[in-house]
Amino acid sequence: MAEARTLTAPRAAPDAQAAREVADGLRRAQPELPPKFFYDEAGSRLFEEITRLPEYYLTRTERALMQRWMPAWIGPLAPAAMVELGAGSAEKTTIVLDAIAAASPRAVYVPVDVSGDFLDETAVRIRAAYPSLQVQPVVADFTEAFDLPDGLGGPVLHAFLGSTIGNFAPDDAVQLLRRVRARMAPGDRFLLGVDQRKNPARIEAAYNDAAGVTAQFNLNMLRVVNTLAGTDFNVSRWEHRAFYNGVEHRIEMHLVSVIDQTVTVPGSGEFAFRAGQTIRTEISAKHDHDSVEAMFAAAGLRIDEWVTDRDGLYALVLASPAD
Ligand code: SAH
Ligand code: AVI
Repeated sequence: MAEARTLTAPRAAPDAQAAREVADGLRRAQPELPPKFFYDEAGSRLFEEITRLPEYYLTRTERALMQRWMPAWIGPLAPAAMVELGAGSAEKTTIVLDAIAAASPRAVYVPVDVSGDFLDETAVRIRAAYPSLQVQPVVADFTEAFDLPDGLGGPVLHAFLGSTIGNFAPDDAVQLLRRVRARMAPGDRFLLGVDQRKNPARIEAAYNDAAGVTAQFNLNMLRVVNTLAGTDFNVSRWEHRAFYNGVEHRIEMHLVSVIDQTVTVPGSGEFAFRAGQTIRTEISAKHDHDSVEAMFAAAGLRIDEWVTDRDGLYALVLASPAD
């Protein structure tokens, strides 16, 4: 079996690039921070807690769709490798890995994630559950270029689950899909899970849970940014807010400044926030068949299969290179 390896170094202590990224985001007319900063180990654990909340229908709906469709979609494909962007705990991925291991016992699984320690734990768990599979984790920011292990063979199943595609603005989502498409050979497939448009109240409840876990997840980003960029955010001076933007078909998560305050970003100086001013920390776009088809067309992908649950909450999509 090939040695498991990490191709990119895990994130280090405060660095100038993270500080620049933070400053660039805070300078915008609507200040924002990129959602990858949610995911240190604590953030990854909070996300796992979110997936079990009664209000957060996304994960359990996607899981049920995967249980129903993966044997039929993945068995005949018999992938030699699976590359999963934003794998996280890979809890639902085991449904795909069951189908892969049955067809190709020595296949390679490459979970890609920015949350390095959490990814290591995922790799240990998957190796124990699937001793014949080769698990080769890659710690990387998938919004930038990164290397995959050599010699993956084919066909390769590329996967992007959990509706994480929704966390990108339309142009950025297409750019990301283009990079996936550029790696695909003709027989490869792309598996996407995507949250659908629906009654906004249902969506808003999923991002404003009664137990306040999403609020903790949102606020944790400030701790992550303090660690990575050396900023001095005082977490107790910010509050969680999430609302549906019906024009853009997306949830927006913000952190609201509860008082007038300043935050120092190393290398860029002080940023002033008035009470009530917000930093947008995440968008979570909701899709339908047309919007996914349009993104895919722009990225050179073609929908082969499209299924939803009975209530139309969520869609699972299998796609091929369009040409
Ligand atoms: N796929 C899992 C996890 C979704 S949460 C599921 O369906 O439940 C989103 C995951 O993407 C997290 O594990 C997070 O660490 C990872 N992630 C977010 N932004 C990323 C980025 N820019 N590069 C790499 N991983 C990222
Ligand atoms: C990872 N991503 C798809 C989640 C979402 O629903 O947009 C992150 C999340 N944000 C708040 N709750 C969950």
